[in-house]
Amino acid sequence: MAVIRSVIRSVGAHLPKRVMTNADMMKIVDTSDEWIVERTGIRARHIADEDEKTSDLGIAASKQALVRAGIDPIDIDLVICATATPDRTFPATAVTIQRALGITKGAAFDVQAVCSGFVYALTIADNFLKAGQFKRAIVVGAETFSRILDWNDRGTCVLFGDGAGAVVLEAQPQHGTTEDRGILTTVIRSDGRFEDLLYVDGGPGSTKTVGHLRMNGREVFRHAVQKISGVIEEALVMTGFAPDEIDLYVPHQANKRILDGVVKKLGVEPDKIVVTLDRHGNTSAASIPLALNHAFEAHKLQEGSLVLMEAMGGGFTWGAVLARW
Ligand code: ACO
Repeated sequence: MAVIRSVIRSVGAHLPKRVMTNADMMKIVDTSDEWIVERTGIRARHIADEDEKTSDLGIAASKQALVRAGIDPIDIDLVICATATPDRTFPATAVTIQRALGITKGAAFDVQAVCSGFVYALTIADNFLKAGQFKRAIVVGAETFSRILDWNDRGTCVLFGDGAGAVVLEAQPQHGTTEDRGILTTVIRSDGRFEDLLYVDGGPGSTKTVGHLRMNGREVFRHAVQKISGVIEEALVMTGFAPDEIDLYVPHQANKRILDGVVKKLGVEPDKIVVTLDRHGNTSAASIPLALNHAFEAHKLQEGSLVLMEAMGGGFTWGAVLARW
């Protein structure tokens, strides 16, 4: 049966030029390279300049994705930006990206699901494309987490960085089997009972300030492996694939130990997992497209590759997307 699938036409990414290593971190807070690497796997992160906004990172990533797809921006009718660090409270950062790309039709809006934002945004775009409401989408994950970090809190400031990634999706007729190209299934979940374990202590509607990121690291860690493994298993059951049939796992890049835990729980071969967090830390909604871009540039993504993306973040929110490249 012919169906419409959201085919991923390309990926692009952008990182700010300024790199902050663990040695640089040691000049700011009482920490060590050994502690950070051992507990998280992170060695460096990129930090946006004062005048470099989330939209600037998202625009650069989107432009690269559009050039690689060979698609004229005027043919894009949906722009979704997943971000927890928008340029302004409103309008949406997606609208700023839409404007910079010269797109004047369709719709543009932001999605706020923190580190799961890219998985949520892909899911939303996929549903719009499958429903026939839009034809081509840019889905961006862009963050400047450096702006919401408490630089006196060594428990959190060492973990995060800035960056952006984007994919271009196109609605294409496919056969309705799991051999199809494009997004094969999506799973998104949230549970607000855990909202106090990872949050920002400010906002326009409460403190009228931007606030700083606060986290109970141990509790987040405890939930992460279990919740991430759960949605991966759901995506596999929905499509009938076994864990070893997936060609590439592209996880949200939060912490190497969380990734190792998922690998162990699901029995996945470690070399099938894309790991980029060592060089850019946790970039929240940007981390999956950044890792996807890395895999693309390393020629690990061929047409037909089965790719599983997953994430968990504040809320808690979590989810997985299974796609054939
Ligand atoms: N450098 C040195 N020491 C530190 C640092 C640091 N940067 N940060 C904390 N410590 C100290 C603490 O003060 C504490 O010292 P104490 O025993 O003298 O009190 C000790 O290290 C242990 O602190 P814990 O917070 O218990 O350390 P833990 O082993 O839990 O590791 C970490 C902390 C790395 C944050 C861990 O809990 C974790 O990985 N959690 C997952 C959180 C995560 O990845 N969040 C990302 C966002 S959510 C997501 O994207 C999935």
